[in-house]
Amino acid sequence: MTAPSEIREATSLQFPAGFFWGVSTAAHQVEGGADNQWSAWEARGGIKSGERCGLACDWWNNAERDFDLAREIGINSLRLSVEWSRIEPQESSFDSAALLRYRQMLDALRQRGIEPFISLHHFTHPRWFEQKDAFLNPNAPQLFERFARKVVESLGDLCRYWVTFNEPNVYATNGYVTGEFPPGRKGQVATALRVMSAQARCHLLAYRAIHEVQPQAEVGWAQHYIVFHPVHGGLDRWIAGLQSQIFNEGFLQLIEQGRFNFPLNLVDGKVNGIGGACDFVGVNVYNRFHVAFDLKSAGQLFGRVFVPPGVPQGDPGVDKPYGEAFPGAIRIAVERATRLGKPIYILENGIPDAQDRLRPWLIVNAIKEMHALISEGYDIRGYFHWTLTDNFEWAEGWRLRFGLVALDPNTQERTVRQSGRLYGEIIRQNGLTREMVEEYSAK
Ligand code: GCO
Repeated sequence: MTAPSEIREATSLQFPAGFFWGVSTAAHQVEGGADNQWSAWEARGGIKSGERCGLACDWWNNAERDFDLAREIGINSLRLSVEWSRIEPQESSFDSAALLRYRQMLDALRQRGIEPFISLHHFTHPRWFEQKDAFLNPNAPQLFERFARKVVESLGDLCRYWVTFNEPNVYATNGYVTGEFPPGRKGQVATALRVMSAQARCHLLAYRAIHEVQPQAEVGWAQHYIVFHPVHGGLDRWIAGLQSQIFNEGFLQLIEQGRFNFPLNLVDGKVNGIGGACDFVGVNVYNRFHVAFDLKSAGQLFGRVFVPPGVPQGDPGVDKPYGEAFPGAIRIAVERATRLGKPIYILENGIPDAQDRLRPWLIVNAIKEMHALISEGYDIRGYFHWTLTDNFEWAEGWRLRFGLVALDPNTQERTVRQSGRLYGEIIRQNGLTREMVEEYSAK
């Protein structure tokens, strides 16, 4: 056995005590048996791979099996989402059995020494809400607030960390610009901006309601951040900047100042009284895209977004690459998010990689990046890898495998990947050993 002092000596990059080493998940992707706007979308043929979500990871029946694996790996925190369509299946009628099942899950996490973080909206909601035009309905903030209040009243004694929204920018872009998510509208940039400002209004009301019910709650949201890297200066830089303005900056600006900057403010974006209403900023960060000005790419605001050959890349999606795996994105995203003056949690970071070719490299280098930032004084309090067990990747179906644990969805058989064991070792060390840094520094 190694004495603790020897472990410390061998560890070259140590993290602060109490750092959250977690994994992130989302209800629709893991629970199975959903009846929400995504299951309707699936029935309409919206999944590009043609696959079915089915039982997903079967969490509604047995999340505890994966919680056991999380404990075995050594994970100390887990982000999950609650499924609005289960909790409020009909408008204003709440299902106490569903809330009870979530209590069981939270209890099961706590019994295993795992701190839960709960997202209230992770892309899915009830069909009745979708039929009302979802966030474009003028009453959406009140409807969302009522749901949030119910959840926190029912589960607040078992959870302290709340994520109001997962990636409003991805939800709005994929639902209203690329059309890859329900409601499947295409090219409606102005509507996407209106959806984001509506979500900011929902966030504000939920933020206040959660604090009313649970004064010591920590409430934030998860911001997806993509690095748009211009190939050259000039027009490439301008167009990459504009894409970043819309995709990365939009929601951040709404939370910071209650409006978009010019020119987005011409569309919408007044959220009165928001003034930085969050206790932390969650950052979801995966990749980098290269951008070149291109008159033929009207759908992407004349910026051709691509992944050049030769860069590290995870597995491709059905009809496009997932993006360049780029651990350096963490620095760019954290520097930006820090301007809100709140603690930061990396709430997602990962790679689609069925064979585990690059995931160990990505994990080590992402953690190295965070360590450098923390040493420089950035207030990063946790890292949540996406994800624990392979799960249903939205429009890509089962095609993209992000798990530390491999899953065969047909048999529900699980196998911990090498990256899962490596992550466990990092958690035990509370950081990276010199050997880990050396082994994965090349590439
Ligand atoms: C997102 C979501 C996750 C994804 C993950 C991998 O970023 O789209 O938060 O639900 O599964 O990011 O793509």
